[in-house]
Amino acid sequence: MSKILVTSALPYINGVPHLGHMAGCLLPSDVYARFERMMGNEVLYICGTDEHGTTSEVGALKAGMEVQEYCDMNHARHAKTYKDFNLSFDFFGRTSAPENKEATYHIFEQLDKNGYIEEKSIKQVYSVDDKMFLADRYITGTCPYCGYDKARGDQCENCTRVLEPTELIDARSTISGSKNLEVRETKHLFLNLPKLEGKLAEWVKTKEPFWPDVAYTIAQKWLKEGLQERCITRDLKWGFAVNKAGYEGKVFYVWFDAPIGYIGITKQWVKQDEANRSWQEWWLNPEKVRHVEFMGKDNVPYHSITFPATLLGTKENWTQVDFLKGFSYLTYEGGKFSKSENRGIFAEDAIKEFPADYWRYWIMANSPESSDASFNWDLFAGAVNKDLNGVLGNFVSRVLKMTASKWREQVPEGGEYGAAEKELINALQQRVSDYIKYMEEMEFRKALGELRAIWVEGNNYISAAEPWSVIKEDEQRAKVILRACINLARIFALLCAPIMPDTAAKLLAKLNMPQVELKGFDVAKEMTALRGGEPFVVGEPLFERISTEKIEEMKTKYGSAK
Ligand code: 2FM
Ligand code: ZN
Repeated sequence: MSKILVTSALPYINGVPHLGHMAGCLLPSDVYARFERMMGNEVLYICGTDEHGTTSEVGALKAGMEVQEYCDMNHARHAKTYKDFNLSFDFFGRTSAPENKEATYHIFEQLDKNGYIEEKSIKQVYSVDDKMFLADRYITGTCPYCGYDKARGDQCENCTRVLEPTELIDARSTISGSKNLEVRETKHLFLNLPKLEGKLAEWVKTKEPFWPDVAYTIAQKWLKEGLQERCITRDLKWGFAVNKAGYEGKVFYVWFDAPIGYIGITKQWVKQDEANRSWQEWWLNPEKVRHVEFMGKDNVPYHSITFPATLLGTKENWTQVDFLKGFSYLTYEGGKFSKSENRGIFAEDAIKEFPADYWRYWIMANSPESSDASFNWDLFAGAVNKDLNGVLGNFVSRVLKMTASKWREQVPEGGEYGAAEKELINALQQRVSDYIKYMEEMEFRKALGELRAIWVEGNNYISAAEPWSVIKEDEQRAKVILRACINLARIFALLCAPIMPDTAAKLLAKLNMPQVELKGFDVAKEMTALRGGEPFVVGEPLFERISTEKIEEMKTKYGSAK
């Protein structure tokens, strides 16, 4: 049994999660955590809200709330949505928690002691009326290059030029609109990444055979271009106060304490049951723990360069990332999800419209693994109607209904499996091994392709074996076929459990069987798990078809290109 630490990038507290967030780290990390648990491994699966930074302060201001109160409210909203999607975190915590403050202070103190922290004075825009320094993107003005009048202090969206906020003409605060802005000199702390570059490059090299291309290439590109010092403090109120004399009134930058949040949240988890849990067993145990991180591709540099360098600089024996699974984006009908423009379905609405498993299946089958993927309602309905309802659901209901109508709600008894069943078992064994291999490698699209192919094998088997015709001349043979099919239904449930946990549970409940581990899955053995005479219930169908009217309703409600 191995120890596997699974982390999903921590969603920003102020954002409302949409399907893109679900596809880009949350759902695949859950599928992987569930899968590894089913392989008999000891898994710790950690996530939480990323709460610091200007965006939270501005969000709270707009909502007319205190920042703490705003974060409490939004944390609960995130937690509920993820629970509804059946994400099986061992702990869903918060980067603003005292346990994370403790971890952040400790790591900062080590970096400082080891000479990796530099002091520098920088010029920043101060808004006299807002009584705060403004992050570059909270300054709006006219672009000196193209004349666009809503350019941001960090970049002009119109001509894409990267800007300095002081270059903007007619600059104003995005928060209040005030033009009463001053450039003030302010002192900040920097992480000396150039000094850590050598150590980091050595460490990245050890990852080459294990990291997927996207992560390794991004890390190498950054190293090749040469690392810059990174400012890790900000002039804000909301955040962890910097624990160094002369830095009163300043806080750590959100991207400094956010990845440390994985450790802080693990400490929060430990706090729930201190006698039986240890965070060091996970985080100061690189030889025994495999750490797998899930994130959108924009997060890769922070997780392959900045955070590993931060941990290396402490000179402590931290568990570093062993496998970094980065995702591209899921778009909504080829465009951006936008709450204000009513484009796209957000996670909390999605779950009101359709059961979690419909979404989980579609998102994982269309995972934006190697390139962007686009959601659209016709594709979604097609997958639910054809794959789930047509291939999996119909197989199960056909088999259970036919058996119950001929004999009773009991697995048919007598007879032995013959050549057709042996052929089926061989074909399935290969597919199941491939499915497990792809899941282990986190090749989710391929894994889902195999899963569907496994359901199709079942359908092909019953179509060729024709128990409805055979029964007329050879009742015993029909019983054998249906017993094989009921065992197949159980196998389908076991295999789909990491992806569709509710469906797996429903199907196993029909068959009166528990979930079992997938480790060493032997199809031949599993095909005899349900013996003649065992009871089952036909019950409700596993899925419902999505009607054309419902698709049209969804397109109108959530926006559609067509
Ligand atoms: O991009 C984001 O949504 C960030 N909040 C991810 C942070 S991941 C980790 F470092 F906390
Ligand atoms: Zn411009």
